[in-house]
Amino acid sequence: MLQASYSKLPLSQRIIMPFMLVFFSIMVIAVISFAFWFTSAMEYQMKNSVASGAAVILQELQTKKQHLGSWVQLIAERNDVRTALEQKNTQTLLKILVSHETNLKLDLIKVVNKNGGVVLELRQPKLDKSNLEDRTSISQALAGMYPLDVVNLQKQRGQKQLVLVGTAPIKSNEEEVIGGIEIGILINNELLKSLIAAEDEYLIALNEDKTVVVSTLTAVTNQNWQLPPTTIPPIRILLTNRHYIAKSIFIPGLSNTSLTIVLLKSLIALNHTVQYLWLRLWGFFVVGGFICTLVGKNIALNISGPLLTVARVAQKATQEGNFDLQAPVTRNDEVGILATSLNSLIRRVAEYTQELEQARTTLEKRVEERTHQLLQKNQELNLAYDQLSYAIQELQQTQAQLIQTEKMSSLGNMVAGVAHEINNPISSIYGNISYAKEYIEELLELLNLYRNEYPQPTTAIQNHLEQIELDYISQDLPKILTSMKMGSQRIREIVLSLRNFSRLDESEKKAVNIHEGIDSTLLILNHRLKERIQVVKEYEILPLIECYPAQLNQVFLNLISNAIDALEEAFFNKLSSVDNKVNPQILIHTNKVAGNRIDVRITDNGCGIEPKNQDKIFDPFFTTKEVGKGTGLGLWICYQIIQKHQGKIEVNSLLGEGTTVTVTLPLVQKA
Ligand SMILES: Nc1ncnc2c1ncn2[C@@H]1O[C@H](COP(=O)(O)OP(=O)(O)OP(=O)(O)O)[C@@H](O)[C@H]1O
Ligand SMILES: [Mg+2]
Repeated sequence: MLQASYSKLPLSQRIIMPFMLVFFSIMVIAVISFAFWFTSAMEYQMKNSVASGAAVILQELQTKKQHLGSWVQLIAERNDVRTALEQKNTQTLLKILVSHETNLKLDLIKVVNKNGGVVLELRQPKLDKSNLEDRTSISQALAGMYPLDVVNLQKQRGQKQLVLVGTAPIKSNEEEVIGGIEIGILINNELLKSLIAAEDEYLIALNEDKTVVVSTLTAVTNQNWQLPPTTIPPIRILLTNRHYIAKSIFIPGLSNTSLTIVLLKSLIALNHTVQYLWLRLWGFFVVGGFICTLVGKNIALNISGPLLTVARVAQKATQEGNFDLQAPVTRNDEVGILATSLNSLIRRVAEYTQELEQARTTLEKRVEERTHQLLQKNQELNLAYDQLSYAIQELQQTQAQLIQTEKMSSLGNMVAGVAHEINNPISSIYGNISYAKEYIEELLELLNLYRNEYPQPTTAIQNHLEQIELDYISQDLPKILTSMKMGSQRIREIVLSLRNFSRLDESEKKAVNIHEGIDSTLLILNHRLKERIQVVKEYEILPLIECYPAQLNQVFLNLISNAIDALEEAFFNKLSSVDNKVNPQILIHTNKVAGNRIDVRITDNGCGIEPKNQDKIFDPFFTTKEVGKGTGLGLWICYQIIQKHQGKIEVNSLLGEGTTVTVTLPLVQKA
């Protein structure tokens, strides 16, 4: 985690950080070590000074004791003192001694006789009036010695005072001890203060019970501290919550008494110094750290800056693909080498990129060429496909046309053949009927003549006449012949219509009466119309129409056939749901319209055409009729023929209501 965060830092920070870390660690260790070393050195020095101070104090106390010894000896050897003692002249003694007490700043002067009885005792007010435990020194003096001692002065309320005493025997001229003299100085605050060399030093005097007798340090209690042994060098002690360097000095007394003086040197000054030192050191540390950070940062930037410039150039070159960029080479060191290498790398990449670009362009060109070729091929294929489709369509059309032509031509041939075959016999019959009628009329006239000339025929003739009903025959025969003439006339008309319809001999354009064509067609289809379908003709007077008559007849045949089919489907099919009250009807309406054109409308009230089929009815082979009944070519042929005649054909139909087909034709065909 730490390593990950470190690796995310900028290079300059990553360079500077370890150094700063090491520097600060060393600085902290150095500061702490130095502070500790300094403190212990100072303490050591203080201990030395305390030790020497203690030695000086001891020396001074010894000196004081020796002085006391000298002084007491001098006083004891004074003649006036001896004389006054011998004479037991206390007044004189007092005079002498008071002056000494004052001069020598003594706190105690005591004179005893040779039995130890007190002759005179002078005590300064600061000295307690209680018993002085100086038996040993007095007795030694009376024994002729000059003892120096530390003696207790038992105060009231158990308090004690310590007095440094010097004692000497007072001898007569004969060198006989006649008494003794004792002088002393009280070990009090003033004395101790006079021994102290510095302000932060304190002295505590204790007696043999280790009880504090006097102290320059206020608020010292006995319980709170442990007196350092006199044999050991100065040590650090804690006293009333403060640290001191302490050294004990031991001055023995003659009896069980002793004086222990403890020299204390306060560590407050040292502590202050150390604190000040710490402050200085930390200040130095902070300033040093700041300077080091600045210098380190400068160095790091100095190292990372050029690297960063090189890196930025590399980044920009890769991101923007700009290989004209070059890193500045400002140094001869590793960064300079790096920049030079990067520059040559960029140049190499630029060269490769250019080559690649060239290759890509070539490739693109090739792909473009290939695509172009493919498109061309595709276009050619499409063209070929279109041509093929057109050819297929043409083929289909030709095929359909062939079928229809064949159908019509065979139908026409047949019709023409039949008409031709019938034409001669029927012409002969028709032509001879007049003669036959004439002959029969003449024969009947002859019979009448016979009946008039011979009114009484024979019985056989009479019977035969009755049997054949001659009168009836003679009345009916002319009628039969007239009817036969009419029949043959009708046959002749039919034959003419058939010939008219087929018009095999008339493949050329011709101006015809269109109504004749329609009538011929109706005649042909008469067998399908019979009595069941009413044909209503609404013919306007029309001029002759320039057309291919046979082809137009074919159109009318197909349209009227479709109308009959639709009527059969609607009226004569059992499944039909058409209202039976309406009669099946075909209405043929012709009229002239603007633009030298005529309209032929053929309307039936048949089944109608489903809307979904209305777009397809002109397609070749589209039929809704059952197999074998419709080929689906009728309307397609009509369309082709009407197109050829520069006309148009339209179908309007309502399912279940009926259909109207409108054919519009120009009167004259344009070339
Ligand atoms: N008058 C009409 N009433 C209803 N439907 C019609 C009418 N005329 C044409 N149709 C519809 O149009 C279709 C196509 O007619 P088209 O004459 O081309 O072919 P067809 O009559 O089916 O067969 P054919 O080749 O024998 O004429 C018919 O099958 C029929 O469904
Ligand atoms: Mg048809």
